[in-house]
Amino acid sequence: MKAILLAGGSGSRLYPLTQVSSKQLQAVYDKPMVYYPLTVLIASGIKDICVITTPSDLHRYQKLLGNGSQWGVSIVYREQPKPEGIAQAFLIAADFVGTDGVILMLGDNIFSGGDDFRRAVGGFMEGAVIFAYHVKDPERYGVVEFDKDGKAISIEEKPSKPKSNYAVPGVYIYDNSVLEIAKKIKPSPRGELEITDINQEYLKHNRLQVWRLSRGFAWLDAGTSSALHEASAYIGTIERRQGVKIGCPEEAALVRGFLSIVQFEALVESMPRCEYSEYLRGVANEWHRLQALP
Ligand code: TTP
Repeated sequence: MKAILLAGGSGSRLYPLTQVSSKQLQAVYDKPMVYYPLTVLIASGIKDICVITTPSDLHRYQKLLGNGSQWGVSIVYREQPKPEGIAQAFLIAADFVGTDGVILMLGDNIFSGGDDFRRAVGGFMEGAVIFAYHVKDPERYGVVEFDKDGKAISIEEKPSKPKSNYAVPGVYIYDNSVLEIAKKIKPSPRGELEITDINQEYLKHNRLQVWRLSRGFAWLDAGTSSALHEASAYIGTIERRQGVKIGCPEEAALVRGFLSIVQFEALVESMPRCEYSEYLRGVANEWHRLQALP
């Protein structure tokens, strides 16, 4: 399976921060926002990643993420000239997806806890899998309605009267037919190719599975400056309390076997002395300790 990491958009709600760099490069506690969704992809075992961003931000992503080989993955880049909708990603990256299935991940989605995405990617066969998460303010998102047996029966984009409190987070898994569906959908009244229209198409043909994320799972939004600050505080609290980092691609690559311990240690040695590299040294020490156990 391939992955598209979508990191375009205008980030207007984060003005003036987004005058300096794009939304998904802003710091969330101790690392750039895009590290969090990227780590989910690596932890899910995905090696082929296409980052889509704006023409003006592209070079910044290339500088930060490179070609991915430092983490044992491949990262390529495509431009989205204008924010004409999330579903446009499938038109822009069609050649990258080829004949494979694809997971689309939004670059500003921060998750913590659980292994739902890894399991969903591992078990994916055909159709589409999206997720549902209970929120207080569903009207800001795509909203899923379930029947009494827990089966999804409708999805609406930013409804003024939501039929449930279940919002759809920015992680979508599709089989290859998404490329054809994306070609057929029309822009919505707000001028965007809507991801909800793609999901409705799968739902209509009974090919959509909606996976409810558990309560213990955190999905954080960082679209406004107060939400960004809260997300930073949340990540900081968990990291300090547990002594483990969330959204650390190096660690995910080691755990997933994309990097050998030798490659991992060389990568850590190339970093400046800082809290982040100290943490990774601790990860390597723990790896050696576990290997030495009888
Ligand atoms: P939004 O938060 O809806 O939009 P935005 O990032 O442009 O922010 P604002 O509303 O403050 O102007 O976008 C959700 C995510 O999808 C975000 O990661 C940006 C990405 N996105 C694109 O990359 N291209 C697009 O055309 C759209 C609509 C969104």
